[in-house]
Amino acid sequence: MKRRVEQSVLGLLASRRSIRRFRKSSMSEEVLGMIVESGQSAPSYFQAYSIIWLRSDRLVEAVYDVCGSESIKQASAVLLICLDFNRLSVFAETVSPEHFLKLDTYPAETLLSVFELGLVVENMVIASEALGYGTLLLDCGIYECERLSALLKLPTGVIPMILLLIGEKDETPPPRPRWPLQNIIHIDGYKPVTVEEARKYIENADQILSTENYLKKYANFSGTYPEYLAEQLRADKEIKQSYAALSAFLRKQGIKV
Ligand SMILES: Cc1cc2nc3c(=O)[nH]c(=O)nc-3n(C[C@H](O)[C@H](O)[C@H](O)COP(=O)(O)O)c2cc1C
Repeated sequence: MKRRVEQSVLGLLASRRSIRRFRKSSMSEEVLGMIVESGQSAPSYFQAYSIIWLRSDRLVEAVYDVCGSESIKQASAVLLICLDFNRLSVFAETVSPEHFLKLDTYPAETLLSVFELGLVVENMVIASEALGYGTLLLDCGIYECERLSALLKLPTGVIPMILLLIGEKDETPPPRPRWPLQNIIHIDGYKPVTVEEARKYIENADQILSTENYLKKYANFSGTYPEYLAEQLRADKEIKQSYAALSAFLRKQGIKV
């Protein structure tokens, strides 16, 4: 059984890691096409997504200037995965002039479209693994959506969500922490996590990440994982202002929840 799992899709899923160091090489259109088609094979809803392949050195450099991750310059393919309510509105208009995108809110469709985009991206991640490539997701797609949108002159309704890097692995990282199954699977109801369990999880994660010197290596952060988390989760005035601007931009672009 163990051997069968190692060689199967389950083995591939279990051994996948985020790769942040790539060996520079190019990717053919054929290989990229296979990966994107695998993405499209995911269960589909409105297919309200588009994938922008940043092929020119000039654009990759410009995206690096916005996002600041060295891995961007090493990747074989840099893909900006966007929510696409632009194509969706043409599609809906073709069917009927009175469609939901004209309402003031359409929360379910928005959330389900983001969910669908996630399925597509994960399929692309697994397809890349199957072809021997490593991948990295970067959240700067959404945090910097306004600047990326201006850089690429994206029309209304096309909203950057995630930057997906695909490349030749130049590192073999160990497994990263996950919550124990008992906090994820709830049987016949819901059991809230206790503060003690949360503390235990954070301590355990700190230990796992420190063995690979994770925070220093990838975030140039010298403190502990709880200290890093506190910095990431802070809610100060500066963050509030930038989130208000981000929300206004997203709303203007059609993210209406
Ligand atoms: C929505 C999302 C956004 C992410 N954004 C970033 C990012 O901006 N930078 C980064 O280094 N890793 C990013 N990651 C990767 C996670 O840090 C990584 O998956 C996690 O640490 C677990 O490691 P593993 O993928 O090796 O299991 C992101 C992952 C997800 C799901």
